[in-house]
Amino acid sequence: MYSIAIDGPAGAGKSTIAKMVAKELNFVYVDTGAMFRAMALYMLDNQVDLESKEAVEAACGKITITISYLDGQQQVILNDVNVSGQIRREEVGNAASRIAVYPPVRTKLLELQRALAAKENVIMDGRDIGTAVLPNAQTKIYLTASSEERARRRVEQLAQNGVSADFAEVQADIIKRDEQDMNREIAPLRQAEDAAFIDSSQMSMEEVVEAIIACYKKNQ
Ligand code: DC
Repeated sequence: MYSIAIDGPAGAGKSTIAKMVAKELNFVYVDTGAMFRAMALYMLDNQVDLESKEAVEAACGKITITISYLDGQQQVILNDVNVSGQIRREEVGNAASRIAVYPPVRTKLLELQRALAAKENVIMDGRDIGTAVLPNAQTKIYLTASSEERARRRVEQLAQNGVSADFAEVQADIIKRDEQDMNREIAPLRQAEDAAFIDSSQMSMEEVVEAIIACYKKNQ
């Protein structure tokens, strides 16, 4: 099996880019953030105290996450319910980042992530794919962009969905999430030693896709 790992901060465009690469190479796209988001959704819906390690750990035992594909799109199933439509909210993303610091949350998802990569050629995105989940991935990418550019893209994306957002607030949220994801004790977000670094601030999506495919070809 061939694995491409893409790590990077929130809003760097990982999922859009990974989907484009997956299509081009006929790989399966695996969005690991969606798994953390599904766990966070359970915790939010069940009023689990996110500051309490014990409460989060107890909740982990009541959660089953599975992944399926519908028309090539990843679906996340939380305790038999397809929650793919509910996990994209900002609130869920922020809660996902908060619970991602707890070992039981990460251990639970690690197995699922590795099982998917053992079965198919995957392009998997997240925060710790190249460093912890798939350390033997043949191609590793660290994709980032400035917080200004990430916030600008996010505001534009929200506007396209008819939602108006305050730029400074969105940027502050992004910086806070970076801080949380990069400074946790277990599997923090960082560039793997053997990952190619791509700063997409001044690049088009097509240029980023091309750069990743060039890395893939080199490592084939
Ligand atoms: O990529 P995303 O915004 O959907 O991820 C939501 C949060 O989940 C992210 O801020 C941190 C956590 N996460 C993680 O810790 N490890 C991953 N591999 C993917 C996501």
